[in-house]
Amino acid sequence: MKTVQPSLFCFVFLLTLLNLGCKENKKESQTDMETENTSMESDHIAKSTFGEMPDGTTVDKYTLKNAMGMEVDVITYGGIITRWTAPDKNGKYDDVVLGFDDLKSYLDGNPYFGALIGRYGNRIAKGKFSLDGQTYTLATNDGENHLHGGLKGFDKVIWAATPKSTDDGAILELTYTSVDGEEGYPGNLDVKVTYTLTGDNQLEVLYEAVTDKPTVVNLTQHSYFNLSGDFTQSVLDHELFLDADAYLPVDGGLIPTGELRPVSGTPFDFTTSKVMGKEIGADDAQLKLGKGYDHCWVLNEEESGFGLAASAYHPGTGRVLEVYTDEPGIQFYSGNFLDGTLPAQKGGVYGQRAGFCLETQHYPDSPNQPSFPSVRLNPGETYKTKTTFKLTTK
Ligand code: BGC
Repeated sequence: MKTVQPSLFCFVFLLTLLNLGCKENKKESQTDMETENTSMESDHIAKSTFGEMPDGTTVDKYTLKNAMGMEVDVITYGGIITRWTAPDKNGKYDDVVLGFDDLKSYLDGNPYFGALIGRYGNRIAKGKFSLDGQTYTLATNDGENHLHGGLKGFDKVIWAATPKSTDDGAILELTYTSVDGEEGYPGNLDVKVTYTLTGDNQLEVLYEAVTDKPTVVNLTQHSYFNLSGDFTQSVLDHELFLDADAYLPVDGGLIPTGELRPVSGTPFDFTTSKVMGKEIGADDAQLKLGKGYDHCWVLNEEESGFGLAASAYHPGTGRVLEVYTDEPGIQFYSGNFLDGTLPAQKGGVYGQRAGFCLETQHYPDSPNQPSFPSVRLNPGETYKTKTTFKLTTK
């Protein structure tokens, strides 16, 4: 995470704060924005209705397209990417992210498929942390721990959307105000996530946030990829590279112990590209705790800023996914908890390891681990971090 000094975004944030507590005004301005959205549509972005929330709120779907033929569907519920097409080595585009066909399936129990995660990606131990001597108690939704923002994280809220078309792609800006005390977090947090689909099959995800009280923030994107395009197949045949010489071992609740353990000589070594399934069944205590890979890797060259963190390759189709970020960590989750009970988008069900996630982030439980890079955000600073997903073939 980079924090920058007060900017235009802060100014916008202050204006938004003036609006807080005045729900009627807010509703009006969102309606205005929606009207504006429709008129701003063009060839590279289209708006349709995805569904209706139980309270009658409409959930919109935006389809971002580029000149190469890539399409990314994003819904205003959770900022979820429901579909993302990518070419194989023969130029055939297919959906490569797990999702559902209808809103009801997302509401009935989504294991964070495609979702924006906030205020905190991954776990905070016992749902508690302290800032400036004050202890905050968060919603607990993963045993005794807090996971992915709590009971109603950013994956379950409606985001306001502003679409923009570019010459060769499209941009979708999503904004959401998380009020002081939401899920237990301090401070009104104004969040903006910008999805930019470029002309060369890259999807940039820019996260920004400002607060009016010291708080903690750690946003991420939770797409489950299956580059084969066949969601009945496991992803264990994909090859993975992670630019990380160390990872964070966890305890029984999947909370980092605080140790940065070298990957060398362990099944966690992906510094040279390796098939995901090669050692996933190894007799390794950490793999047993995660039921597979479900750990945060400590990215190399943290100091040098934005760079390649990970890449995945599916030999059968030739599809390659590259992940670039300025974050210090990446959670590689091998879809261990998928259990064949959820309906798959193209038929069948999502079996164990039908998808993998590469979640760029600060380390789990950082608010309780002073030796980890800080996730604190102060008033007057802007949280700003970028991750780019690039889909190519070889
Ligand atoms: C976590 C897993 C969790 C999954 C939820 C991942 O980011 O690391 O432990 O089960 O999200 O789908």
